[in-house]
Amino acid sequence: MNHVLTTGRLVLRPATVEDQGWLMEHWTAPDVRRFLFDGDVLAEAEIARTIADSSADFAAHGYGLWLVYEVGGDSPIGTAGLRPLEELGLEVFYSLSPPAWGKGYATEAARAVVDHALGTLALPEVLAEVDEGNRASVAVVSRLGMEPFEVVQGLLGPMTRYRTGSGFRTP
Ligand SMILES: CC(C)(COP(=O)(O)OP(=O)(O)OC[C@H]1O[C@@H](n2cnc3c(N)ncnc32)[C@H](O)[C@@H]1OP(=O)(O)O)[C@@H](O)C(=O)NCCC(=O)NCCS
Repeated sequence: MNHVLTTGRLVLRPATVEDQGWLMEHWTAPDVRRFLFDGDVLAEAEIARTIADSSADFAAHGYGLWLVYEVGGDSPIGTAGLRPLEELGLEVFYSLSPPAWGKGYATEAARAVVDHALGTLALPEVLAEVDEGNRASVAVVSRLGMEPFEVVQGLLGPMTRYRTGSGFRTP
């Protein structure tokens, strides 16, 4: 199985070692990393390990880290993926390069990932954890119809946890 996901405007491809340079540039951009890694700058080795873990997870479980492309585009515009949220289940995450903000791409990519999780992988639910100060990301989970169920304290302040429920909408 190649794990490529396609939407109306986007193609999501599992990250490979060749994507390390692009991921480094993307995830270290201040506007992108602020809420993703609590402002931390990832080291090359952490990105290499993330890609290796993702490849192992795709092979074993059918999920991991996807790079997001516009249909017909040859350079990535963002990322989306699934990763464990403590012992609670899998959370969806996403990021876009700033020029790709404001087009609905994050919602479209995240919806494809959640559909994959609930459909192909037959998971009972998908979670998300969003810093309350990250208004753009709160809007994404709201557009997906995810429901808040808990607030926890993060390094940057309160974070709300969401789950897909009866409110999760496919287009
Ligand atoms: C979170 C993040 C991905 C959100 O990006 P975004 O572009 O705001 O979100 P979407 O792709 O869903 O786009 C929604 C916007 O596109 C607009 N839009 C334009 N054309 C659209 C279309 N055809 N379809 C849907 N929405 C469209 C919407 O109206 C909305 O605009 P608004 O914010 O002014 O209301 C982005 O801010 C980011 O990468 N942040 C850094 C990483 C991060 O924090 N990730 C989340 C960690 S939990």
